Amino acid sequence: MAAGHLCLLALDGAVPAGYSVCMRVLDELHILNIVVAPDFQRRGVGGWLLDETISRAGDLAHGPVLLEVRVSNAVARHLYLSKGFVEIGIRKDYYPSDGRREDAVVMCKERQVAV
Ligand SMILES: CC(C)(COP(=O)(O)OP(=O)(O)OC[C@H]1O[C@@H](n2cnc3c(N)ncnc32)[C@H](O)[C@@H]1OP(=O)(O)O)[C@@H](O)C(=O)NCCC(=O)NCCS
Repeated sequence: MAAGHLCLLALDGAVPAGYSVCMRVLDELHILNIVVAPDFQRRGVGGWLLDETISRAGDLAHGPVLLEVRVSNAVARHLYLSKGFVEIGIRKDYYPSDGRREDAVVMCKERQVAV
């Protein structure tokens, strides 16, 4: 963990199965990317990475968890919805896409903080 960042690597033995990267922005946790290698997809690795990232980043930031995802990325949107994220907005033309631009959906998950 670098200051303000957390990167996780999921391994199957010595074989990389996926990774995640997140960073603190003020009191928010921003998930920058979650990627699972094609051979490991649909086996729970993405869900595991998401849960572990949020859990292990608990000391990094205590506020909501935010991320952006392509409007067309139905699989990732489904994964995030299944993990309690809600869609809170659109960033117009956020991603490059074959010489054009694609909108991002902004998703947010509130965390329970013990008081
Ligand atoms: C999105 C991604 C990380 C999901 O990883 P994964 O390991 O396949 O996901 P999981 O096996 O944990 O599945 C999580 C949910 O997504 C669903 N899902 C996964 N792949 C799916 C597919 N191809 N079609 C439909 N649903 C799918 C699963 O059914 C599961 O839902 P459920 O718990 O309701 O059954 C992976 O597809 C990926 O790396 N995609 C390319 C990179 C990417 O788009 N990253 C997200 C950037 S925001």
